[in-house]
Amino acid sequence: QDTGRLTGKKVVITAGPTQERIDPVRFFTNHSSGKMGYALAQAVKEYGGQVTLISGPTSLTPPAGVKVVNVESAEEMYEAVMNHFDQADIVIKAAAVADYRPKETFDQKRKKQPGEWSIEMERTMDILKTLGEQKSSQLLVGFAAESEQVEMYARNKLESKNLDLIVANNILQEGAGFKSDTNIIMTIASDGTKKEYPMLSKDEVAYRILDDIISYAQRRDVL
Ligand code: PMT
Repeated sequence: QDTGRLTGKKVVITAGPTQERIDPVRFFTNHSSGKMGYALAQAVKEYGGQVTLISGPTSLTPPAGVKVVNVESAEEMYEAVMNHFDQADIVIKAAAVADYRPKETFDQKRKKQPGEWSIEMERTMDILKTLGEQKSSQLLVGFAAESEQVEMYARNKLESKNLDLIVANNILQEGAGFKSDTNIIMTIASDGTKKEYPMLSKDEVAYRILDDIISYAQRRDVL
């Protein structure tokens, strides 16, 4: 790979799922393994960038030389991202953040009771949307995990969250999305440039994403 392309640049990457606690035993989460975000962290390192990896719970070992901030919930991820946003040159949000969390949580294990149990859910903060509202010179890159009409929903997210680039993946496609070692992505930049890629390892995908971010930055004469 062409090393040095991000020398001196500060890159914040989010990875993995969030866990939204119900009680000391139970939580809501999703299928994210963290592989996509960790591959991005490795690739940014290879390109000479300084990485802060804000990670939900995963079983992965972070790449050497990366600053890691471990978080559990969407709220903790929000706090961690906000703490690092001002100094960042690029933010890449590969994490699968919960959109909802239990409205009520319990300090003690909730005991089994006769009958059903309904859990009321409330919205979490949309971290990426907040970043889009607050960004100054940062390049903001989001992901769109879709199961249908991938391009249309990705374009909506690109626009509504004020992103510079979005990486879309169809989570129902074989070899793409959660957990697998491969992904199949499309990138769309805010200047309209669209790129589609075949199935590639997540390591390869990470370099393609960085190359597309760098090309976009060069077209805009930023970074
Ligand atoms: O971790 P892996 O197993 O390797 O899987 C990779 C992946 C499928 C998780 C990854 O490729 C991916 O698609 N990540 C984004 C998952 C997601 O939450 O997508 P979304 O379309 O629901 O959210 C859109 C964007 O908003 C994402 O960048 C997300 O990080 C962000 N978001 C979402 C909700 C929220 N409350 N705050 C956010 O910042």
